[in-house]
Amino acid sequence: MEAEKRIPTHVSIIMDGNGRWARERGRERVFGHFEGVESVRACTEASVEAGVRYLSLFAFSEENWGRPGEEVDALMKLMFKSMVNEFETFMKNRVRFVVLGNRSRLSETLNAAIDDMMARTASNDQLTLILFLSYSGKWDILQAARAIALECAGDPERIDALDFSDIDSHLVTAGIPDPDLIIRTSGEQRLSNYLLWQGAYSEFIFSPLLWPDFRKEAYFDALDEFAKRDRRYGKVK
Ligand code: IPE
Ligand code: IPE
Ligand code: MG
Repeated sequence: MEAEKRIPTHVSIIMDGNGRWARERGRERVFGHFEGVESVRACTEASVEAGVRYLSLFAFSEENWGRPGEEVDALMKLMFKSMVNEFETFMKNRVRFVVLGNRSRLSETLNAAIDDMMARTASNDQLTLILFLSYSGKWDILQAARAIALECAGDPERIDALDFSDIDSHLVTAGIPDPDLIIRTSGEQRLSNYLLWQGAYSEFIFSPLLWPDFRKEAYFDALDEFAKRDRRYGKVK
């Protein structure tokens, strides 16, 4: 019998290349974002099929607010619409939906829809689907540092007793296991301020495919590649 394949608990994807995908077709950048939603659906289904327990997606960075207003508006509308549209599928596949990031920058309407979606899917237990919205790794560490500083209130004993788990538990990802695998599409090989703390020991796969072309087959190929990796965590066998 073939040895059982090692499945990552948490897969995270930096979904990149929508704009280029659209440009290649002589279309507006937003057309690429629309098509990217299909890849989100495909990777969510593939995660459920493979038994991955957490799938997180970098959908919009803190830096992405600096894009032209039209594109930002279109992206926010698209988040809203796709989230609402996916509700039935989430229930059918027992997907718990979570949004993490600097939510103070999102509109009231979007925040209300997110809260509603999170509440209604809260007890689903097959897959946790995390959307990082208005997120950056440095922002996450900064907000954790602020919270910890407040709690310690200058008390030297408490400050001295701080350890790594105190940082973990104040990041927005508290309670979520660190990503075993981070995939970035579109051929770019950088982190772009994503999961800086949590990705300390993640495996990386850089796919040349643009996000709208990254479907089930590509996702399963990445899982195969992950299964071959030797994770040493600085130790020797
Ligand atoms: C990823 O695709 C989606 C977001 C960052 C919101 P891009 O919009 O970055 O597409 P490219 O990288 O310009 O092709
Ligand atoms: C990273 O992609 C952010 C998301 C995928 C949401 P970008 O396209 O914004 O990153 P850079 O500008 O190429 O580093
Ligand atoms: Mg990009």
